[in-house]
Amino acid sequence: MTIDTTNPAAVRTARVREIASELRELRGALLPILHAVQADLGHVDQVDVAVIADVLNLSVAEVHGVVTFYKDFRREPAGRTTLRICQAEACQAVGAEALGEHVKRRTGLSFGKTSVDGRLTLEEVFCLGNCALGPAVQVNGKLHGKVSPARLDAIVGEAR
Ligand code: FES
Repeated sequence: MTIDTTNPAAVRTARVREIASELRELRGALLPILHAVQADLGHVDQVDVAVIADVLNLSVAEVHGVVTFYKDFRREPAGRTTLRICQAEACQAVGAEALGEHVKRRTGLSFGKTSVDGRLTLEEVFCLGNCALGPAVQVNGKLHGKVSPARLDAIVGEAR
């Protein structure tokens, strides 16, 4: 099949189909496919859901249910900076909840949202594997520990 390479939607759909076809034989293929699509294309779009459902012979509702159940999956493009704040127990014990509230107040965003200018995506995660150095955050994949509200402002300011 020829793909119209000038049409970004067609290119995306072809890539999703390619990824899903490559991984479809895996046991429990849906999650690896969703992770691979997000890693390759940045998020799992609603259009991707239909393509994956077709390849796996599942209903769109089944695939959609999995995408919306797991917080790991982004359903829209991320901002230039992605800030992930650990909200799991060990970090909560040392101020992660207050840190989350601080950044929500400062940015006007809630977890899972991207600023209108496309600069910042705010996400909550449940453990970054840095429990001894909480509160832990990750900015564009880079881990930071013992983060105070003031330090977080500085880290995010530099990243943006
Ligand atoms: S609980 Fe926050 S990094 Fe593990």
